[in-house]
Amino acid sequence: MSGVPLIETAADGEGTYREGREGWGHIKSFVRRAGRMSEAQQRYYAEMMPKIGIPYRPAPIDLNAEFGRDNPKILEIGCGMGETTAKIAEANPQNDYFGLEVHVPGVGALCKLIAEKNLGNLRIGQHDAVEVVRDMLPEASLDGLHVFFPDPWHKARHNKRRLIQSPFVALLASRLKPGGYFHCATDWEDYAHQMLEVLSAEPTLVNTAEGFAPRPDYRPLTKFENRGLRLGHGVWDVIFRKA
Ligand SMILES: C[S@@+](CC[C@H](N)C(=O)[O-])C[C@H]1O[C@@H](n2cnc3c(N)ncnc32)[C@H](O)[C@@H]1O
Repeated sequence: MSGVPLIETAADGEGTYREGREGWGHIKSFVRRAGRMSEAQQRYYAEMMPKIGIPYRPAPIDLNAEFGRDNPKILEIGCGMGETTAKIAEANPQNDYFGLEVHVPGVGALCKLIAEKNLGNLRIGQHDAVEVVRDMLPEASLDGLHVFFPDPWHKARHNKRRLIQSPFVALLASRLKPGGYFHCATDWEDYAHQMLEVLSAEPTLVNTAEGFAPRPDYRPLTKFENRGLRLGHGVWDVIFRKA
């Protein structure tokens, strides 16, 4: 493994960041939510995951071999119910997308969209993104990275659970190819500023804009975002490139 910091759990259960060893715990950016899959989600999950799921394993994978071709590879962390993920994959058949999500009904919903739209360029990892990126993705293996509306963990005492923090950003940046992009979006202003600050402080990343970036056409507006924008709420995109 490269010597980038990992996220570990201290003896008191609180997390700290330091040089990691495999097999140690780390602060989770999610809680296991109760959530039942609908019958359709269950059916598509059972049908699709054996075909398009990439199971977690603590060893590097060859993304070109997984997709059977040498096309640009984009990682998405936290697909949610997968609407945006599926729309982007459908609109960009020239790219391959690897979506990570831990929430089981979300994975089921995305399986359904993949089957209905017959998407050949989208795979799912149902596992903690921190561990997938750390253990499975080789350095300089990604052309792009999407982190759209990550959980804001808005209470100060929960801020440590936010995904976009320096050690994980350093790890993610190490997985990008030179020229690869790192795109985050949030509707939580305080988190937007944290994203800008943390990505700006990562020496291998360069901002593509002055401050926040305009929403690029490839990121579709979600229903939720549309409603927020109508109510006058903000959404911020942060897009950097690997030097
Ligand atoms: C607020 S939702 C946003 C979902 C989607 N990107 C959207 O824009 O609608 C954040 C999602 O990230 C997932 N998530 C959080 N931490 C994760 C992790 N470490 N690995 C994989 N998924 C994660 C959560 O389960 C949740 O579904």
